[in-house]
Amino acid sequence: MKVLKTNKDLQEVLQQIRSEKNRLGFVPTMGALHEGHINLVNKSIDENDISIVSVFVNPKQFNNVEDFEKYPNTVQSDINLLEKAGCDYLFLPDFNEVYTSAYQPVNIDLGAIDDVFEGPLRPGHFDGVVQVVNILFRLVQPDMAYFGLKDYQQCMVIKALRDQKYPKINLSLCPTVRAQSGLALSSRNKRLSDKGLEKAAFIYKALKTVNELKKHIEADDAVKYGAHILSTHHIEVEYFALANAETLQPSRKWLRSGKNVVLAAVWIEGVRLIDNIVF
Ligand code: PAJ
Repeated sequence: MKVLKTNKDLQEVLQQIRSEKNRLGFVPTMGALHEGHINLVNKSIDENDISIVSVFVNPKQFNNVEDFEKYPNTVQSDINLLEKAGCDYLFLPDFNEVYTSAYQPVNIDLGAIDDVFEGPLRPGHFDGVVQVVNILFRLVQPDMAYFGLKDYQQCMVIKALRDQKYPKINLSLCPTVRAQSGLALSSRNKRLSDKGLEKAAFIYKALKTVNELKKHIEADDAVKYGAHILSTHHIEVEYFALANAETLQPSRKWLRSGKNVVLAAVWIEGVRLIDNIVF
């Protein structure tokens, strides 16, 4: 695998890829890679001739400075994992390569997507994601780009960016990779003690329970029961709610099959975790 640190190096490689009419897959990440990321990389390798992964911890999407400062930096282990997976290129730019002096923020209409769940709780977060992914899409211009449904609302934000600015890029939104306990893999899990990890397994249990209750009780009661599972395990719930999987608008009633999404954000041992289930 070749590591590209500058846009200039990236453009040279891209020129070659395009001249050979190779199909290009792209996986943007912030590093601290785990099996959830590698699953996206494997998919890209399967479906394209060449795959590029980017690792860039984007300060503009952290509404909390401490969260940014604590973000793990594991470049060597990331490189090893990507090499093992068979990735072709790692784009590893520094801040000034991404936000050059010519940087102009892009304006995307997110509609109501930014008004719910993560939107109001992390002001500026999705705008920061839009800005960096816009820059990366513009630089890389891939045929396919891979994102994880673990960050469900982020996927919807990326869809809006694609629809409004990059109609030629195909998005692949990939299922959440989980530990055996059901806990969604996340770089933040490393900050939990063994006890915290045990507790965190109840997030997915609560989400699955809501799904299982759909056949039996009203949506409102099922969601309350799911949240109750979390609070009985002393997990601090920031939100736990049913929404329309297409619009993300909260719903008090069950929706058609495949259109229900239950989204959760909780705090365990000072670590904020998010997860969701679609059914
Ligand atoms: P990061 O958190 O590094 O995640 C990179 C990609 O991996 C995202 O699409 C995310 O949804 C996906 N991912 C993370 N954990 C996953 C899991 N357990 N299962 C499946 N996919 C998973 O998300 C970001 O970075 C940034 O916001 C980024 C899009 C790179 C913009 O800076």
